[in-house]
Amino acid sequence: MTALTLSTSAAPGLRADAIVIGVAKGAKGPVVAPGAEAVDTAYDGKLAGLLETLGASGAEGELTKLPAPAGFKSALVIAVGLGTVPDDGTGYGAEALRRAAGVAARTLGGAKKAAFALPVEDAAAVGAIAEGVLLGAYSFDVYKDNGSTAKAKADKAPLAEATLLGGKPRDAAHKAALARATAVSEELNRARDLINTPPNDLTPAAFAAIAQRAAKEHGLKIQVLDDKALTKDGYGGILGVGSGSAATPRLVKLSYTSPGADKHLAFVGKGITYDSGGISLKPAGHNETMKCDMSGAAAVFAAVVSAARLGLEVNVTGWLALAENMPSGSAVRPGDVLRMYSGKTVEVLNTDAEGRLVLADALWAASAENPDAIVDVATLTGAMMLALGSRTFGIMANDDAFRSAIHEAAEEVGEPAWPMPLPEHLRKGMDSPTADIANMGERMGGGLVAGLFLREFVGEGITWAHLDIAGPAFNEGGAFGYTPKGGTGSAVRTLVRLAELTAEGDLG
Ligand code: BES
Ligand code: MN
Ligand code: ZN
Repeated sequence: MTALTLSTSAAPGLRADAIVIGVAKGAKGPVVAPGAEAVDTAYDGKLAGLLETLGASGAEGELTKLPAPAGFKSALVIAVGLGTVPDDGTGYGAEALRRAAGVAARTLGGAKKAAFALPVEDAAAVGAIAEGVLLGAYSFDVYKDNGSTAKAKADKAPLAEATLLGGKPRDAAHKAALARATAVSEELNRARDLINTPPNDLTPAAFAAIAQRAAKEHGLKIQVLDDKALTKDGYGGILGVGSGSAATPRLVKLSYTSPGADKHLAFVGKGITYDSGGISLKPAGHNETMKCDMSGAAAVFAAVVSAARLGLEVNVTGWLALAENMPSGSAVRPGDVLRMYSGKTVEVLNTDAEGRLVLADALWAASAENPDAIVDVATLTGAMMLALGSRTFGIMANDDAFRSAIHEAAEEVGEPAWPMPLPEHLRKGMDSPTADIANMGERMGGGLVAGLFLREFVGEGITWAHLDIAGPAFNEGGAFGYTPKGGTGSAVRTLVRLAELTAEGDLG
């Protein structure tokens, strides 16, 4: 990952491949953002005009390259758009900074060193720019190294070093913001790696082994239930989903405990390492990206490790419900009835509605510890993508205040999210003539039906929320801002923020 430092040096004397500056959209054309004054002076104060000549407007996502002015030790100036100038001329929002830094970092792939001269008003800006750089510089090329030359590899390597100008290396708040951004971004990028790893390599057992290594490194308690242990304890949902695959399922429990904590959060992640649909096989065109179906578990994993690295004063337990959903002679069939860990029976009407089955068992296991709240994260339904598109996740909950708090936290960290209801009338669609409940109901409102199913497996009286990240988990389009193609790490930053708020006593 990119090495980041804070520096109060001036841009002209910096030896770097490029100096990154901000340009915003003003009423009468582009405006050079604060932080780049020295750069503007070196262009004789004509930088805004120059940028306008080059076609820049300051719009978000825009990137303009220009040769550095005479006397500069770096060759290139990169101007990135920050969007509309804020009303008071300052106060560039965290998300605008994060995205602009991400756009620049992405372009700087292959470069050794860049200096970022973006507006830094406070420690929050330092954190946002750092996150933008670290997340934007991400690349996944583990499977591309064969046959390419050393030069080709270097050209694609993420930006090696970045200096944040205006960040004060001796300011405690600035240092803390950088350390937080580094820890969270590193774990988030690791979640992206897990999502992008092909399913023939990332089996449930392989994921569990990675969690075991991380637990050791960060002093977390870990318990891995393999298929034998799952059978013994009656985890019928996880076992049923995993029964069609040669790669057996796992339930991983990762616990971070803080001596100062008086609250306990449980995060539960859907970890389907590949979702073929099972016997209710997905048609061609719908399964090419289904390695992403463990994105919820990856987010939970990253969030628990982040909480540990940040030393948050809250206990966080992560539950990873890992299975591969495959068709075979031993696979669960439409019509089968599973006895779940909670004791309830489920008639499997569609084996492609597998996420709710593994989550149901993990939710019940999490409930047994009676945490203050449970949040599950899952690429659960195509219906949620139809409702909210590919960049926004849906939030459902059994508590209005908790749902609002999560929505606010998501907004704060720059993750688009939206509250969704759990309409009671949709419950009866899941009535089964044979079992306590069916794993499918009405097609309309499919995302909400899935939420209602999960609710049945949350322990009595426990505050619970469900994040359906089917849309934003995996970016099938082009990279934008600090979001790469492929695995995005959706929900990691929201979960970490929730843990922080809980530690600070600002939640529940
Ligand atoms: N993993 C899918 C949902 C999904 C779809 C995630 C597209 C990301 C992108 C899930 O297991 C699934 O197949 N859901 C079904 C449920 C249906 C059978 C009730 C769906 O949404 O079609
Ligand atoms: Mn499915
Ligand atoms: Zn799935």
